[in-house]
Amino acid sequence: MTRITLPGLIDVHVHLREPGGEHKEDYASGTAAAIGGGITCVLDMPNTTPPTTDAAQLRAKHALARRGARCDVGIFVGASTDNAETVGGLAPHACALKIYVNSTFGPLRVDDWQLLERQIANWPLTRPIVTHSEGDVLPRVLELAKRHAKPLHIAHVATRQEIETIAAAKDAGQPLTCEVTPHHLVLTRDDLPRLGPLGDVRPRLAAPDDRAALWQYLQYIDCVATDHAPHTLAEKHSANVPPGLPGLETSLPLMLTAVDDGRLSLEQLTALMATNPARIFGLAPQPDTYVEVEVGRRRQIDSTGLQTKCGWTPFAGVEVAGRVIRTVLRGRTVFDGDRVLAEPGSGRVLYGYDENEE
Ligand code: DOR
Ligand code: ZN
Repeated sequence: MTRITLPGLIDVHVHLREPGGEHKEDYASGTAAAIGGGITCVLDMPNTTPPTTDAAQLRAKHALARRGARCDVGIFVGASTDNAETVGGLAPHACALKIYVNSTFGPLRVDDWQLLERQIANWPLTRPIVTHSEGDVLPRVLELAKRHAKPLHIAHVATRQEIETIAAAKDAGQPLTCEVTPHHLVLTRDDLPRLGPLGDVRPRLAAPDDRAALWQYLQYIDCVATDHAPHTLAEKHSANVPPGLPGLETSLPLMLTAVDDGRLSLEQLTALMATNPARIFGLAPQPDTYVEVEVGRRRQIDSTGLQTKCGWTPFAGVEVAGRVIRTVLRGRTVFDGDRVLAEPGSGRVLYGYDENEE
């Protein structure tokens, strides 16, 4: 058994569900799950209820996050059908713009190509644009970004076709970054009979060959991001299954297992989970912030003791070779391997409003 220290991890894709989905997760519970997973900064998605698409909602979300967050939180704004001319003005207080080109949980969606082009053209270069753009949609989105000279970050790449498209565009010099989720690196559609509705997620779990392609093209992948998307077990077992899986507490153990298996180096893990996310999203360093992990000893993931309010994981029963034993944020132990010690409100909200700012 070995103990190693890693920098505080950054997860650029999480759904903390406030406002409107507090029965699934809230800032306090979602950031408890983050620090339990060794993650000290999360970027929170805009498909809440209501969605984060205007100044009033962004400001309201900042207030909620300031009250609840136990680690650092950046807040996304979302592209809608009626904010293409105004959303750019929110960039100073947002970590990035999210554009849902494909449909997923919630109503946020921009699938009109002229509108999508205006959204991409109007967003300032000061913050990234992140797209949910699966399959055949991806090349068209890349084309629009190229036309307007906007760097893009592609969320949750899941198939061979997508990663090969991205690799070719990167090789051709297009400014482009991308992320993959632990669930697409570990699970496939072959797991669906076992998982049932718990395996329902967008993008869907793919074929074993798609998973193999993600590993094969690892050098083209910039980040591992969880797409932590908690729904209650009752919702997942209902007639109308919402897509999404929780992932904050299992991401690092699963990636450390890949290191133990020799599929990934610790340097690659650190790049994918800390340094590249910080660089792509322009995040300031968190001083004296690190994670201590135990590696080597094998155990099975189980659903007991999770911090996420949804209380389940699609990885129950999966054998992993890593465990978080301490998370330290700005010199303070916020997770001791067992208990979360940081109070709600002790985390920082990135790009906050000044006292007298409109
Ligand atoms: O499965 C998903 N669930 N994919 C998404 O893109 C959104 C997410 C959610 O918010 O539940
Ligand atoms: Zn998502």
